Amino acid sequence: MASATDKLSPKDVSNHFSRVTKHRVPSQVKRFYQYFSIPGIGNLAGGLPNPNYFPYDTLEASTAVPDRFKPTPNNPVDPPATDLTLSALNLSDPAAASRVLVPHDSAEPNPLRKIDLTTALQYGTAQGYPPLYSFIREFVQEHLHPNVPYKGGAEVILTVGSTDGFSKTVEAFSNIWDSERDWIREREGLLCEEFAYMNAIQTARPRGLNVVPVAIDDEGMLAYGKGGLEDVMSNWDTNKGKRPHLMYTVTMGQNPTSGLLSLTRRKEIYALAQKYDIIIVEDDPYWYLQYPSALELSNKARGQSTSPKSPAAVNYNTLDGGRSSGYEFLDSLVPSYLSIDVDGRVVRLDTFSKTVAPGCRLGWITAQPAVIEKIQLITESSTQQPSGFVQSLIAELLMGPSSHGDPGKGGSKDGSGWKFDGWVRWLEGLRGNYERRMQVMSQILEDGMYLIQGSAPGPTKPGRAEEDDFEIVKKTQLYDFAWPAAGMFLWLRAHFDTHPLYEKVGGQRLANAFWVFLTAKPYLVLLAPGVMFSPTPEIAEQVGWQYYRLCFAAVDDELVAKHSKGTVDAFVDYWAIDDPKKIDDLLDDVGARAASVENALQNQASFATNPIFC
Ligand SMILES: Cc1ncc(COP(=O)(O)O)c(C=O)c1O
Repeated sequence: MASATDKLSPKDVSNHFSRVTKHRVPSQVKRFYQYFSIPGIGNLAGGLPNPNYFPYDTLEASTAVPDRFKPTPNNPVDPPATDLTLSALNLSDPAAASRVLVPHDSAEPNPLRKIDLTTALQYGTAQGYPPLYSFIREFVQEHLHPNVPYKGGAEVILTVGSTDGFSKTVEAFSNIWDSERDWIREREGLLCEEFAYMNAIQTARPRGLNVVPVAIDDEGMLAYGKGGLEDVMSNWDTNKGKRPHLMYTVTMGQNPTSGLLSLTRRKEIYALAQKYDIIIVEDDPYWYLQYPSALELSNKARGQSTSPKSPAAVNYNTLDGGRSSGYEFLDSLVPSYLSIDVDGRVVRLDTFSKTVAPGCRLGWITAQPAVIEKIQLITESSTQQPSGFVQSLIAELLMGPSSHGDPGKGGSKDGSGWKFDGWVRWLEGLRGNYERRMQVMSQILEDGMYLIQGSAPGPTKPGRAEEDDFEIVKKTQLYDFAWPAAGMFLWLRAHFDTHPLYEKVGGQRLANAFWVFLTAKPYLVLLAPGVMFSPTPEIAEQVGWQYYRLCFAAVDDELVAKHSKGTVDAFVDYWAIDDPKKIDDLLDDVGARAASVENALQNQASFATNPIFC
């Protein structure tokens, strides 16, 4: 690992900026920022409303303390990995709560420590609310990515969540292309996983970007081999447009496949990104949800060899002589692409959506300073800044008041903030709860993966040879899946080719009808069909229809088991159907249901019950 003095500066990536981005210049307002904080300055320059007329005197909330949830070990064999009994599903201790208070005014002179409504609800800086920005920046630079290899390290800017972060990144790095106006040779491309998070694809598509899937395995994107990154890039046909220079990738708990890309594969992909000059946009909402027990338990369940004593959890940060994050938990997580980003070609998106709540609409981007500067310019003329309500509540929760003179209260029992220790402990607790849910769902699906059919052995009749009574067993595989190594999803491939009606009815029709079958009584489970995550119609047509995404995060603890069992029961009962008429009836139902969803969407009142699908 290079020492701080021999690190090289990040590469100039401005050749990849879009035409609009190249034309962006700092906003006129920006030069005033430095004067805003002069103590006692009479600010008549800004068009600011008077904070005494804000209708909020304080913001207060009852909140969790950081150790509300029980963590799981970083090394799964030590102590025992988990208790899979149903009683273990009641995961949280009695709610341990604290009270956060954001005061109207704090006398704290340092803008990086002052948290109050007078500043938070006012117009602010595009980087983010100064105290929260400084907390996140330090967390990112010192703890989350302590080994970014380029000189000076990465910078951050707060966003209105990862969706906003991606939209700004795509704006920064791609030009809009229109088939009626532009030459095909000018069309830019976006590389993505073979199954992808479709909100991102839907951001790229209307800009005319060529969406280019790269083949995946259980880990994630393939570097080499058929359909892998090298294959796609080296065989690029320029009749389809420019060879892509932008990659969208979710590498930890990928949505929908839950893949966790190893450091070894990351290095291979990064080397190809250097060879073909690709900007990597790493969208990583689930990085802290990495499950060390998945491999152990999966091996055990499938009779594959597990080392009796697995090696101590890897410390990824010190592996190549780098700096520790200061936290065993963070050191044990597969690190971001930023940890190997010698060129400064990685733009990483983070979000509070899964660590606090999606409704916060808060996140951040981490990248080399020149990229952050351009994103900041985009922010200044679009969202300006995330909501001050959210930023101040989270800042107070995490940082707490600065001194005795500050009437604020943070999220710890004693009124101070969670600080970095509390934040990391909170993440460990979330990982614990989601890991146990992952284990429950996986184990139930594991147990139901095969249909065992056979004639029950009858009572031995006198005079019959004993072997006549042997059970005739037929073992039919209903589906397969990999135990999720990270994230919130289980990606299941149904084996429709083993269904008795496969030849007569066809796989896709069986798959469509099965989805409806699952939603009916007694099963009543809604799975996300694989076609929803197929970035091209070809993938949907060829393989997407075989898959379903099951989210073990969203429902209450006991329901994870109930719905997992419901899914298994539905598979068993569906495989017992041998009359094609029954499939036709189910497919008629699809039409009826689709029409009712359409109607519901046309009815304004139903929007509250139709959230955006993530
Ligand atoms: C891969 C991925 N990116 C982004 C998001 C949305 O993030 P945000 O709420 O921060 O916009 C999700 C939500 O499910 C996701 O799975």
